[in-house]
Amino acid sequence: MSDSPEQNTMPAPLSELIEARLSRRSALKGLFAAGAATLAAPVAVAATRNPDPSSLHFEQAPHTIEMYQQVAAGHRADVLIRWGDKVMRDAPEFDPFNLTAEAQEKQFGYNNDFVAFLPLPRGSKNSTHGLLAVNHEYTNPELMFAGLTAINAAGKMTKEQADVEIAAHGLSVVEIKKGGNGWEPVADSKYNRRISARSTSMQVSGPAAGHQRLKTRTDPGGRHVIGTLNNCSGGVTPWGTVLTAEENFNMYFGGDPDKTPEAANHKRLGIKGKSRYAWSRFHERFDIEKEPNEPNRFGWVVEIDPYDPTWTPIKRTALGRFKHEAATCVVAPDGHVVVYSGDDEAFEYIYRFVTAKKFTPNNPAANRDLLDEGTLSVAKFSDAGSLRWLPLVFGQGPLTPANGFHSQSDVVIDARRAADLLGATPMDRPEDVETNPVNGRVYVMLTNNNTRKPNQVSKLHPRPTNYYGHIVELLPPGTEGSDGARQALHTADEFRWEVLLLAGNPAKPEHGAKYHPDTEKLGNWLAAPDNCCFDNRGRLWITTDQGSSQRANGIPDGIYACDVNGAGRALTKFFYACPRDAEMCGPAFTPDNRTLFVAVQHPGEEKDSTFDTPSTRWPDFDFKRNTPPRPSIVAITREDGKVIGS
Ligand code: FEO
Ligand code: CA
Ligand code: CA
Repeated sequence: MSDSPEQNTMPAPLSELIEARLSRRSALKGLFAAGAATLAAPVAVAATRNPDPSSLHFEQAPHTIEMYQQVAAGHRADVLIRWGDKVMRDAPEFDPFNLTAEAQEKQFGYNNDFVAFLPLPRGSKNSTHGLLAVNHEYTNPELMFAGLTAINAAGKMTKEQADVEIAAHGLSVVEIKKGGNGWEPVADSKYNRRISARSTSMQVSGPAAGHQRLKTRTDPGGRHVIGTLNNCSGGVTPWGTVLTAEENFNMYFGGDPDKTPEAANHKRLGIKGKSRYAWSRFHERFDIEKEPNEPNRFGWVVEIDPYDPTWTPIKRTALGRFKHEAATCVVAPDGHVVVYSGDDEAFEYIYRFVTAKKFTPNNPAANRDLLDEGTLSVAKFSDAGSLRWLPLVFGQGPLTPANGFHSQSDVVIDARRAADLLGATPMDRPEDVETNPVNGRVYVMLTNNNTRKPNQVSKLHPRPTNYYGHIVELLPPGTEGSDGARQALHTADEFRWEVLLLAGNPAKPEHGAKYHPDTEKLGNWLAAPDNCCFDNRGRLWITTDQGSSQRANGIPDGIYACDVNGAGRALTKFFYACPRDAEMCGPAFTPDNRTLFVAVQHPGEEKDSTFDTPSTRWPDFDFKRNTPPRPSIVAITREDGKVIGS
């Protein structure tokens, strides 16, 4: 199929269906689950071949790139909330032809990534009523505004458009309820909140708070920042707050690093003088020649409390500053809280933070500042199968004034450089890092690294030009017993590691893929693992983000599931396909595993795809008004209401 977004490239039955049902919100919900069931024959192999060693017995979703979403037969995939939908009670109706920053700050933001489901009331396991906390990672101006392309947007955009983009970043908190019509947002909820990069005040805590390198003209104390940027994935703390990870914050800053006192720091984080965003033309704080310290106020893990809309978000600097992909929490058997985080860039590292104090269950106030004190470490792997956590502590080893570190503030601000000096292991773009609640292992999604050279391979990174990515398991001591989760010593200095799978097509030997041997006949192959989560049985649900490789690979992005223990280990099955040119984010289960929330990010993001001629108009498919595609959250349930994957 060509990249043309013309309506006549759509399968006729679907177009007709859309035409007939276009205007009704009820049509939006459930339409594409129906589309999947009727338009595309499910891949039937899983149901007909025996024996199937997998514990996952759903019929797989079609493994094809389409303009619409597709889900495994017997499931519904309902759009719950879209870019521009109302979050605040006084938000105006979405009008893609007249966007304003003021409206956007009250509406659901762009490019939803991390999704957390937080039951109501707090502390319960309610699976039909709760809060969704959603990250809005970045914006695609070429798909938001008429007349712009990805190439010319930075130079051509107006201040009003840039302000819409800034308002579309951050997070949304939305109360949702499951009723007879499925999941729906609760209008007028007291919990609903937009956190934006434009106006939300945040505090800074931990070692870098108030440090000289965080001070700006508008914040001479170095403790108050406006907004959060490039919030990719995240985590939920044991006390029910959300950690949101600031990833590629460098993208928003313009100016010449060599004209600042922070040149080496800015270059190490990818601020190289030319921004793909227009913001620095209109706002001095995004121009590093005017505010050289402003980038030091981003790249942190930020804590927010979705249950308290008046709460001021806090940037927790003890966890280090880099391109945080996620921030996954687990309570170790000794009560200390452990946070894992990957730094998503080629040849960057995996980090771990261990709190100095212990977690106190059922007492959120006692845990409020637990993340301000503790030890940040970085991972060093050996080919012999071990992993050592190296502490990033001022005064220890090379982290001294002789190397430009004058306090722990410098160590956390320049965490990458500190990790370099300690000899940490360069990874193939660590995306999500998640802990398995059943077997206690830690799973690392290494999405890809096209620049790894043959002389840089190892057992951990066995393929040069790692085009398809792989998944590595970290094994804390104590994970060998039958009750691995309870015993997993996440605070230990030394772990072991194993490779779960090497992605790529197992039918093509040149890919060098490695899965369960039956994957080719019973499952489906994947490329570029990105986010992940576990169901209550400890099975791994993997989302993918192939980026511009989606067309070349010929498979959609979406969500795959596999066992990680037993006979079905690493037999990946395809559950849900994104509409074309989207990546799959989320995912998050309700506690009862009867709903899986996923985030469809940047539908239509492709080289020649624009607001005027997008490669898809999902989920609205409004060809009368020619509306653009909209990043959206989708709620997936079984038609029979049972547990997903059972
Ligand atoms: Fe925002 Fe590394 O993905
Ligand atoms: Ca990601
Ligand atoms: Ca991604």
